[in-house]
Amino acid sequence: MYKKTILVLAGLAGIALSGMANATDVHTRTIASTCMSCHGPGGKSVGAAPGLAGVSQEKFVDMMKGYKAGTRKGTIMKKHAAGYTDAEYAAMGAYFASLK
Ligand code: HEC
Repeated sequence: MYKKTILVLAGLAGIALSGMANATDVHTRTIASTCMSCHGPGGKSVGAAPGLAGVSQEKFVDMMKGYKAGTRKGTIMKKHAAGYTDAEYAAMGAYFASLK
């Protein structure tokens, strides 16, 4: 009886934790994963492209809008930024900000 209660509680905690881990929707995680080939796994830089993990959402969205508008200079990012909407910038920004 006591053992069963513990098992049930552990199960509920597991559900709560996996719910948190999945807070970012599949679409956002999918498009963000395309960035990681250059920006590093988990957004942590391993090469030439700067890391994105832990960058604030506000700063991220600002930089992406800058690339799209052409006011922020880059070699490749104007093309990448052009493919996404402001809502996708915001969603990706929240996701990268959450990666530590
Ligand atoms: C082909 C490699 C490549 C891919 C793919 C790529 N980037 Fe980049 N990114 C770069 C490089 C290189 C820079 C440095 C600026 C430049 O040269 O354009 C950069 C710069 C940035 C910056 C500015 C970071 C800073 O601190 O200055 C942001 C934000 C960014 N990328 C976001 C993204 C996002 C979001 C995606 C996916 C939608 C993405 N990048 C996909 C190569 C890439």
